[in-house]
Amino acid sequence: MCGIVGYAGSQNAAEILLDGLKKLEYRGYDSAGIAVMNNKHISVNKVTGRIENLCEITENGRSVIGKIGIGHTRWATHGSPTDINAHPHMSNSGKFAVVHNGIIENYIALKQELINKGFNFESETDTEVIAHLLEMYYTDDIKKAFYKAVSRLEGSYAIGVISTDEPDKIFLARQSSPLILGVGMGENYFASDVTALVAYTKNIIYMDDGEFAELTPDYIKVFDWAGHPVEKPINRITWDIQAAEKGGYDHFMLKEIIEQPAAVRAAICPRIKNEKICFDDSGIDKSTFTGVEKIIITACGSAYYAGCCGKYIIEKLCGIPVETELASELRYRNPIIDENTLLIVLSQSGETADTIAAMRECKNRGAKTLAIVNVVGSTIAKAADYTIYTLAGPEIAVATTKGYTTQLAVLYLFSVYFAKEKMLLNDEEYHRLLTELKDLPKYVEEAIDMNFNISELAKKYCNTNSIFFIGRNTDYAVALEGALKMKEISYIHAEAYAAGELKHGTIALIDENQPVVALCCNEQIIEKTVSNIVEVKARSARVIGVSFKNNEKILTVADDIIFVPRVDGLFAPIVEVVPLQLLAYYIAKEKGCDIDMPKNLAKSVTVE
Ligand code: G6P
Repeated sequence: MCGIVGYAGSQNAAEILLDGLKKLEYRGYDSAGIAVMNNKHISVNKVTGRIENLCEITENGRSVIGKIGIGHTRWATHGSPTDINAHPHMSNSGKFAVVHNGIIENYIALKQELINKGFNFESETDTEVIAHLLEMYYTDDIKKAFYKAVSRLEGSYAIGVISTDEPDKIFLARQSSPLILGVGMGENYFASDVTALVAYTKNIIYMDDGEFAELTPDYIKVFDWAGHPVEKPINRITWDIQAAEKGGYDHFMLKEIIEQPAAVRAAICPRIKNEKICFDDSGIDKSTFTGVEKIIITACGSAYYAGCCGKYIIEKLCGIPVETELASELRYRNPIIDENTLLIVLSQSGETADTIAAMRECKNRGAKTLAIVNVVGSTIAKAADYTIYTLAGPEIAVATTKGYTTQLAVLYLFSVYFAKEKMLLNDEEYHRLLTELKDLPKYVEEAIDMNFNISELAKKYCNTNSIFFIGRNTDYAVALEGALKMKEISYIHAEAYAAGELKHGTIALIDENQPVVALCCNEQIIEKTVSNIVEVKARSARVIGVSFKNNEKILTVADDIIFVPRVDGLFAPIVEVVPLQLLAYYIAKEKGCDIDMPKNLAKSVTVE
């Protein structure tokens, strides 16, 4: 939610800021703005709509002169998306410009206090209080004023500030919102995410909560809450700018769907060494999970649905009870947790506010925490006792695809590893599962190749108002993700239903206008789902069956068929989700939707 970026160096700042903002647009895209320092004067340009609009009014940044600046792309929380509510926000004297990602929870009280002291507010945002607090506390030392202002804030923030009184510096603070620093030669950067910086530098410093920084063209200094300098390691990014660009595809989403075989390979293959699963990159060893009696999986959105598959997989292989709970629910419950509970936290971004809060709550109650995360150095990755990275590379499209499948891949690895540690697998079964795991990238690739013509099916179904997704067991877990993909990007109402539950109400909605996607990849219960297909067909529904190649049972009952490669039933979710992603993609494309940036959504949900 919201992206911030900043630059201090010898090049024209606005062009670099705009380029960075384009890379961060997935974080929010209802308005955007930049503030650039020029001869002790701050010029601000901000506008409603996409970064493209900001590029237009600034001639791609060329018309804004200055070598130090800050920028922001917004996902509105406080106040509607208007030019005035767009960041940066200025103090009344024009001395300070502020960009902020996060939420200032006590802004109403602060705003009243500042109004009583005579400050004028222009916008409806929570962020504007920061600019006025700076001005209120400033006498002759900006760093001091910044510390004082930040100490008044409650909530989450990544803040960037420039001031006419120290025109070659950027001041930064972080609490519960991502903020990284880019180290260059005679130029330095900051941003919410590496993708904004990778074209300029691969040397990155991850700021931690409670830290402040001062950034100039020549140095970056990080300080703790008390103002003491902190030595920070410089991390080297291993991927290239191409990974964060469309590379000839119409949309990031399609590129990321196609990247799934490689991403799944990267998640699995380096962790199978000498015919054994090792998580040595995560500090996990034989004793890590000893004594675990119960597992809770928590997450939001698609990550939660990956967790729903994980429940079936872990319970089947490891014989241990698994609960899945949405992070936004878990955090406000009184969960029964002790030191024998393992909490598995799934998150692509590692920054989802509810997931972080649920993890902290469970940790306080004594649970061991294992995070399965994509973004390196993210809050969840750092806060967990153990972190397994999904190694999917940057995911830009708001609707996750390779983020989800790599979470599944790691859940498979974990389950087989844990089952082996619990001595529930004999050598023969273990090696069979390892072979299946190693083959998963190939199967995912086949699932893509087999469904290139799904765009034709999309044409047939794109005008519907509603689609049901049904399945049982793991098929049901994947149906949840299939329905979410459809809603997110095509704006078609979609609902996943456990096939066995249809008769308890939903079947009342079935008629000739109601397409039903029936997932039939779990061989143990295919017969049962086929019976449900027959029932909805009897009410004139049009049925798209999803099953293994040449599954005769489906051929006879469904109107249209989507085939996937035949794999061991346990591994079906990772292949059957692929055509559902493609179906949602092509239906959204037929409808002319903005696929990579669907309305009202943002990729990284850093507010509750
Ligand atoms: C947003 C994204 C989803 C994602 C969810 C959880 O809603 O649009 O694609 O699944 O957040 O995000 P996380 O980064 O924690 O996986």
